[in-house]
Amino acid sequence: MDISIIVPSRNEGVNVELLSERILRSMPDTVSYEIMFVDDSDDETVRRLEGLARSDSRIRYLHRDNGSGLSTAILEGFAIAQGDWFIVMDADMQHPPESLPRVIEAIRLEGADIIVPSRFIPGGSDGGLNVWRKLVSWTARMMARMSLRKVRSITDPTSGYFAVRRQAAFSKELNPIGWKILLEILARSEYNKVVEIPYSFEARDLGSSKFNWKEQANYVRHLIRLVGNSEPDLRFWKFCAVGLSGVIVNSTCYVLLVTAGLPIAYSFIIATLVATINNFTWNNTFTWKHAKTDSLWYRMLKFSIVSLGGLGVSTLVVDGSHRLLDFHYLFSGLTGIVVSTGWNFAMNSIWTFRT
Ligand code: GDD
Ligand code: MN
Repeated sequence: MDISIIVPSRNEGVNVELLSERILRSMPDTVSYEIMFVDDSDDETVRRLEGLARSDSRIRYLHRDNGSGLSTAILEGFAIAQGDWFIVMDADMQHPPESLPRVIEAIRLEGADIIVPSRFIPGGSDGGLNVWRKLVSWTARMMARMSLRKVRSITDPTSGYFAVRRQAAFSKELNPIGWKILLEILARSEYNKVVEIPYSFEARDLGSSKFNWKEQANYVRHLIRLVGNSEPDLRFWKFCAVGLSGVIVNSTCYVLLVTAGLPIAYSFIIATLVATINNFTWNNTFTWKHAKTDSLWYRMLKFSIVSLGGLGVSTLVVDGSHRLLDFHYLFSGLTGIVVSTGWNFAMNSIWTFRT
């Protein structure tokens, strides 16, 4: 068997029949495949699946009585599917089956382990969502791409439509929360190459979307967990936490020294030195705990140079954005903080604590 098309379904009614018909019509004759529905319906959809399975030996279904959600349905599909490749697509034809030949061509020609049909590369389109859902979907994608390195270059990581090679799908135990199993695979599985191909996401004709607020909350929980389990992705947030501790140390010292009667300038210099030592110590033992290539003193020197550089760069940005771009001074200040955080993190990653 070459390919298992895995279709999660819940209360899709006649859609499962229309979809099967369109898949059977679209699939090239040269490929051996099965259509595997994993169904959590509590309506007459099950009866239709029964009929479909009887009418064509390529169609199978698994009905779950206490099904717990979309991602686990897909995982159960993986477990019983027989193909070398799994293609996951929705039952409501928003992922048009006519695009399957292109997916199969990509499987054959690209030497990839994962194929993601994307709405957001040239040739693709995103006609299937209303404005509100488009915004939610955009936000979700940006959050994922900003916080997970392995997802950064993928334009449609929240797609419900994708193909994955059997070995890649089973390379890690997957434990997704909610809907976005592709995100879990991209972030955690072992694979070499991902290829995106364009497709157009169509509007839903029949039935209604099962997407809701609970799934949005699940998405955020899922993403936080994926970041938490990924050392390199977590590092930036650790670095921000250390930075915040530095601000607290700095201001506390400053207030204490000034109250003790030291001149303001001296107080500020000492407070900044103490905060720098605080930040270095935490970054050295917590943020980059495995990076121990140079001697401690050399690392500390590099850290200080990077911090001074950050001060220089952000000062230019604060001053420039205020004077040349007319930013409000508070907004300029904020921009400066963002720029220096980015600079310090990047330089410390590639130089001070390079691994
Ligand atoms: N087995 C099972 N169990 N299937 C489910 C469940 C469930 O609890 N909930 C939903 N499904 C099935 C639906 O029957 C449908 O086939 C598919 O999962 C997607 O559900 P929709 O309700 O149609 O979701 P959507 O159209 O709002 O969003 C889809 O498309 C987006 C773009 O690709 C999803 O696939 C999103 O994940 C995706 O981002
Ligand atoms: Mn849909």
